[in-house]
Amino acid sequence: MQNNSNEGPRPRSFFLDEELFEYILNHTSSPDKNQKSLIAKTSELGRISAMQISQDQGMFLYMLVSAIRPDFAVEIGTFTGYSSLAIAKALPDNGKLLCCDISEEWTSIAREHWNEAGVEEKIELVIAPASETLTNLPSDKKIDFAFIDADKSGYLEYYEAIVPRLSEHGLIAIDNVLWSGRVVDAEVSDNDTVCIREFNDHVSKDRRVSSVMLSIGDGLTLVKRAD
Ligand SMILES: C[S@@+](CC[C@H](N)C(=O)[O-])C[C@H]1O[C@@H](n2cnc3c(N)ncnc32)[C@H](O)[C@@H]1O
Repeated sequence: MQNNSNEGPRPRSFFLDEELFEYILNHTSSPDKNQKSLIAKTSELGRISAMQISQDQGMFLYMLVSAIRPDFAVEIGTFTGYSSLAIAKALPDNGKLLCCDISEEWTSIAREHWNEAGVEEKIELVIAPASETLTNLPSDKKIDFAFIDADKSGYLEYYEAIVPRLSEHGLIAIDNVLWSGRVVDAEVSDNDTVCIREFNDHVSKDRRVSSVMLSIGDGLTLVKRAD
């Protein structure tokens, strides 16, 4: 993919150079035409396009969801739709994905690409703060897969709303847990970095769950109920 000066940076792990990232992509299943068009469209937004998950991470989500076959999945932070597309494409026939975002503008791009992929029937998009959308779920609604990738100050609240609803074999995937390495940089103390550090500490001490922190993308933690 071209990356000219009018486009935003191509999302990739901060610790990978362009050559190694290219190698990874060359040895990972390629995005389809619709996903490629979404990458190109998002890149026209400029630097903000870096919010989109990387291609390898999209394929990783697709693999996870294909294996779990969730009846009900939730995404917190949809943006232009790359991660939701990866999740929705992997859902079983009866599977549903609830997408939570606050931006009509960015999610209108997502809607276009869901329609093109023929997965729009599987997705419900709610434009509202994700904390409200989660609170409004029926009390007995179980979540089989959740992807958290929205405002970093909300991570703890989203996690605490989702963990009690997690089904027996359910998984939560949480993005940006390495925050471009700032989590270990003692010089950095902005609010988002502090929130991510507190969130990571919280998960690692949470005895209700088992977790693993992966270095894919900007860091991705997977969480399941403890045995
Ligand atoms: C990092 S982007 C998500 C990227 C997306 N997962 C992808 O792969 O393209 C974060 C998104 O979270 C949304 N967001 C921010 N605060 C939110 C909130 N309180 N509730 C729901 N969504 C929120 C933003 O509008 C933005 O679209």
